[in-house]
Amino acid sequence: MQEPLGIQRTDPAMSDVTIKVRESGPYLVKGPVTVTDVDGTPYVITGESIALCRCGRSGSKPFCDGSHRDVFVATERAPHA
Ligand code: FES
Repeated sequence: MQEPLGIQRTDPAMSDVTIKVRESGPYLVKGPVTVTDVDGTPYVITGESIALCRCGRSGSKPFCDGSHRDVFVATERAPHA
């Protein structure tokens, strides 16, 4: 199967991860992922999903803290085959 944008899947465990782009909101990531800071130190993730900021306004980056509400407008749609 051809992956979009040249992405190649190499780790079967990644098939358990989904990332959903929220309209005017964060990336919702579900599944077993590790998020690290710039030094490679992992953040402690306790839930089954996380919301990653994509508006740049969060006070707790890389995670969404809700600061996008009413000030961030973005909508992406995948092309339909
Ligand atoms: S996407 Fe929610 S604070 Fe940035």
